[in-house]
Parts: sequence; structure tokens; C-alpha cells
Amino acid sequence: MTQTVRAAVFPVAGRGTRFLPATKASPKEMLPIVDKPLIQYAVEEAVSAGATKLVFVTGASKRAIEDHFDTDAELERALMQSGKDRLLESIRNIVPPGVSCVYIRQGEPLGLGHAVLCARPAVGDEPFFVHLADDLIAGQPGCLKQMADEFAGHGGSVIAVETVPREHTSSYGIVAVDESDRNRITQIVEKPAPEDAPSNSAVVGRYLLAPEIFGKLENTGRGAGGEIQLTDGIADMLDERAVYAYSFRGTRYDCGSKLGYLKATVAYGLEHDDAGAPFRTFLEETICE
Ligand code: UTP
Repeated sequence: MTQTVRAAVFPVAGRGTRFLPATKASPKEMLPIVDKPLIQYAVEEAVSAGATKLVFVTGASKRAIEDHFDTDAELERALMQSGKDRLLESIRNIVPPGVSCVYIRQGEPLGLGHAVLCARPAVGDEPFFVHLADDLIAGQPGCLKQMADEFAGHGGSVIAVETVPREHTSSYGIVAVDESDRNRITQIVEKPAPEDAPSNSAVVGRYLLAPEIFGKLENTGRGAGGEIQLTDGIADMLDERAVYAYSFRGTRYDCGSKLGYLKATVAYGLEHDDAGAPFRTFLEETICE
């Protein structure tokens, strides 16, 4: 019988250098897409995939994330007194009842693999999600739910992948798969040059991992960019545990890059209940000028 996935890990301790100066004092994951920060989209996706324990691996300047998911009784009172029911609703139950938040400090940003290892005491000996909030994925059901359904079918680890232009392989973890075995991953390499890449199938920011990854990460040395890479820990696990590549249904926006962030803002802005229609008119007028 496959286990339910209860814990979701959100590594939010990166430096976010590509978004400086915006990320100097405030985390990248608090950047809003229209009216919600990236980390709230991430939490909503994880909760709708069944996660009940949210583990945030935080670093410097991450207080804003804790505050965002905390209750703000004073603000709630003020909104209630002024009859702003819709706004009140939007800040209440951002974390639904029955879902808990755990914050773990990554002392130094030594890499994504190290950040995931920091979550071990909170996750324990169970399969868990890893969600990188700067990869925003619009899809129904959400990407993590799709992966949980896939996991329920075979019980192996699952990594979301997307085809990228070959000249972009050096920005991603890249996988080779055995198509005759449900796309079981046979090789995974961090940021290979296009000529060395085993394919152009790129890992994106969603993982469903077996707890054995922790043992591997303990022994993973520094890899690409001098960081402890999650990709390298996964590579060490491939011989012992099945890890499958999963091509999700949906559209990914790389909100860690300025262009991806702007694209997400436009796409989500056009869909917004109140602002969508006038925003469309504005864009049409602006582009036709
Ligand atoms: P990125 O590679 O996007 O790095 O990290 P970054 O530092 O956030 O951003 P740039 O490249 O400097 O602009 C991928 C994810 O891993 C987390 C980040 O917060 C992000 O969600 N991360 C990375 C950590 O939590 N700890 C680390 O040591 C490194």
C-alpha cells in the first residue's frame, strides 16, 4: 500500500540575487503575483495535494513569511469593524484548520540539497513533497496533486519535468529516462552544458521524495556552483530506489527570473476577478499604440 504524503517542504532560504534589490530585505517568495505572494500559491498547491504539515526552511530576512502565515488578530478586527468582509476572508485561514507550519533555519545557504536535509527532523521517515515557490505552475489539479496521484500508482519518488530548449540545459537538472519503465530516471545531472546533457528534459521545482534521500544528502559533497545539490543526492539514490520523471499538465512560470515573473503577472492578472477585464483593455491599448 502506498503512503499518503503529509509533509511539504518549502526551501525559502536562497539569496534571490536575480531579484536584487527587491530581495535585499524581503524574501523572493514574498513577491506578489497580483495580490498573493508566491509562497501562498505554493502552500495552496501543497494543501490541495493533501499536505497537512508545512515545513519552511528559512534563512536571513525570512520573518515576513512567518508573519504572513500567522494570524493577525488586530488586522482582522480592523477589517471586521470597517465591514470589509471580502478582505477579511482573504486573510483568514490562509493556513486552513488542521494544517500546521514548522520553521527551520538553514544557517547558511549551502544549496538546495542542504536546505532539504535541514527539514529532516520535521519530516521524519515518510515520503514528502519539496516545492520551490519561485516555479509557479498554473494547472488543474495542481502539480503536486498530479504527482501524488502518480505516486499512488507505483510508490516511487516522482520529479516534475518539462522539455526545455537544448541551449537552456545549463540552468536546470537534466534527466535521462527509461520510457519502457514508466519514465524511470536512469541519470540525473545538475546544470550540464548543452553538449553534455543526456536529454532536454529539465527538472522543475516539484519533487515527491522517499525519505532515503536524507541519508544520501548527508554524504553529498558540494557540486555545481559550490553548493550541495539536491540533484546529486537524487543521483545517488537512483540505483536503490525507483525515481520517475513526471511531465505535469499545466503552465510553468519561472518567477525566479524577471521575464518569467512578468509573464506570470500578466497571465494571472488577465484571469483576476476584478482587475482582469480592465487590465486586458489596458494591455490591448498599450500594445496597439
Ligand atoms: P535558486 O537556485 O533559485 O537560488 O534556489 P536563489 O538563491 O533562491 O536565487 P538566485 O539564483 O540567487 O536569484 C532554488 C530554491 O532553493 C532555495 C531557494 O530559496 C529557492 O526556493 N534554496 C537555495 C535554499 O532554500 N537554500 C539554499 O541554500 C539555496
